[in-house]
Amino acid sequence: MEFSLAERPIALSDRRWPDAGVTRVPFWVYTDVALYEREQERIFRGPSWSYVALAAEIPEAGDFVRTSVGDVPVIVTRDRKGAVHVVVNRCAHRGVVVCNAASGNATTFTCPYHQWQYASDGRLLGLPFKKGVGGHGGMPADFDNAEHGLQQLCVIERNGVVFASFDHGLASLEEYLGPTNLGWFDRVFDGRPLRVLGYQRQTVPANWKLMFENIKDPYHASLLHVFLVTFGLFRADNPSKTQMDATGQHSVLVSQRSEQREVTGTDDIKRVRHDLVLRDPTLLDPVREFPGSATVVMQTIWPNLIVQQQSNTLAMRQLVTRSVDEFELHWTYFGYESDDEEMTQRRLRQANLMGPAGLVSIDDSEVMRLAQQGAAVGQHHEALLEMGGADLDDTDHMVTEVAIRAFYDHYRTVMEL
Ligand SMILES: [Fe+2]
Repeated sequence: MEFSLAERPIALSDRRWPDAGVTRVPFWVYTDVALYEREQERIFRGPSWSYVALAAEIPEAGDFVRTSVGDVPVIVTRDRKGAVHVVVNRCAHRGVVVCNAASGNATTFTCPYHQWQYASDGRLLGLPFKKGVGGHGGMPADFDNAEHGLQQLCVIERNGVVFASFDHGLASLEEYLGPTNLGWFDRVFDGRPLRVLGYQRQTVPANWKLMFENIKDPYHASLLHVFLVTFGLFRADNPSKTQMDATGQHSVLVSQRSEQREVTGTDDIKRVRHDLVLRDPTLLDPVREFPGSATVVMQTIWPNLIVQQQSNTLAMRQLVTRSVDEFELHWTYFGYESDDEEMTQRRLRQANLMGPAGLVSIDDSEVMRLAQQGAAVGQHHEALLEMGGADLDDTDHMVTEVAIRAFYDHYRTVMEL
């Protein structure tokens, strides 16, 4: 097929990041298929700890959940002895998915195609007609089951949160997160046993990086989200801060709800709706439960996790990449086993702010869709990230895009862009 000059795809090797550095993000990072493939290899199958599950989802021997690391399907299992494993959900024989249930209890997994059977840790236990039938056929005499198991990932668990990596030589999670972000992680995951309250899943027609950008962007929160500003959960003048790790790959946005519900002196915020009232005020009845004064803590952990604490609603948001212009967001809402019924109900009520149809987060899904559309028709243009200047340092206000710049600073290093 003949391409005209304008239509010819640009090779990744010919891509060039704008000279202005990370105050610009070229729109092709959201649309280039070859770049997406390189992300899978270098980020999701590379030296990173991907969140896969809460240990509370698989409490008993034999429990498993099915999930993905990047776009690779995996199974998170607990074996007979209680050890957690993460194995690729792909038969070593012909590549068929060996586990189709979203979750369950099983100590073996059998491929539906030719019934190759695997243990919880991925070992190939056996396969039909291995020695042939009536002296005919079968596998070669030197076929060794030990060489044909499900691919095993390296697994790490901290205070009930399970991470996995294709890289078996990676630093510990503690080292990976760095002291500041580890501190925020441990604030929620302080060792108390967790209780899973429910799940929501959605498909977002946008590149996965837009989700991280959204959470790393305090600038939008007081502008886009009518609900947050109208009901006083988030204001641009709330005490707040952004803190990165040394690499810029992880970050946390922390803010403190103002006592003052009425929004004043903020002409830039057009979306405050003074005519709106909550018919059920118990939707917003936050109680302080963590040390310190922060009421919203949103942490992004490279490459696939957002830890959400908005008032008393706690959730893991797991990013699952599907293609260059689509990702799934898996929400796992949780509390603690020690919560009383009142607290559990409070967490569930406040969860109405979140999820695919959440009073707040529905806005984000919609703008990510729109951002993707803009990128798709703006291939030769770039996004502007100058709010708060060009620096990459921690800040103590919300009028900044520093965490997004820091993310892309690290991204460019990993991706060699
Ligand atoms: Fe948002």
